[in-house]
Amino acid sequence: MGLSQHVQAGQTPLEEEERDGLKILTINCLSELDEFEQKNIEEAIAWTMGKTYTIQKLISTSFIRTLHKKMYGHVWNWGGQFRKSEKNIGIPAWQVPTALKMLLDDVLFWIDHKTYPEDEIAIRFKHRLVSIHCFSNGNGRHSRLMADLISEKIFHQPVFTWGRSSSNLQDKEQIRKQYLRALKMADKGNYSELIDFSRS
Ligand SMILES: Nc1ncnc2c1ncn2[C@@H]1O[C@H](COP(=O)(O)OP(=O)(O)OP(=O)(O)O)[C@@H](O)[C@H]1O
Ligand SMILES: [Mg+2]
Repeated sequence: MGLSQHVQAGQTPLEEEERDGLKILTINCLSELDEFEQKNIEEAIAWTMGKTYTIQKLISTSFIRTLHKKMYGHVWNWGGQFRKSEKNIGIPAWQVPTALKMLLDDVLFWIDHKTYPEDEIAIRFKHRLVSIHCFSNGNGRHSRLMADLISEKIFHQPVFTWGRSSSNLQDKEQIRKQYLRALKMADKGNYSELIDFSRS
């Protein structure tokens, strides 16, 4: 797809502060940004393909950061770097490294002790990861890819469909609503809706 120099009518331009850390200066609007990010994410997925990982390797701070960098590093210069400022989702920035370490230890324990069914382990992990919000942006997509990798590489199950299976006929907006509703239920400790959504 051709990328225009100027914002086309009807396209959302990027604000100056939203361009902070952008590596590709020809990006002018949100749809172009989405396109570049999507391409970068596809490269990250390709990088994981055919690879095998030990549980210890995948469930680690170093892998969490490397994967984020692989997903966004061509587009943003903060790929893989923990955030330093506060967001409306997530804990105070200074607590990110320790909260992540606690989450990783919990997940290793759940896997070892089969505390929950396999999908539930991946989804509980995904939800706590996105709730910590390690990075300035891209946390949602990063947490979903991490859940996919846990399912595929650790449990040898298919990746999740995240509302996009052929049997789910809802449109994009409806799917997004379902996803956000399921996240809010999970915030209250009820994971069943998010687990169902992830395979719908
Ligand atoms: N109440 C909530 N509890 C947990 N997570 C939430 C909640 N609301 C939103 N989120 C997650 O945070 C994401 C937004 O964070 P961020 O912008 O860093 O991620 P993204 O990858 O750009 O977004 P997306 O998930 O839309 O692709 C949401 O998309 C969703 O995945
Ligand atoms: Mg975002």
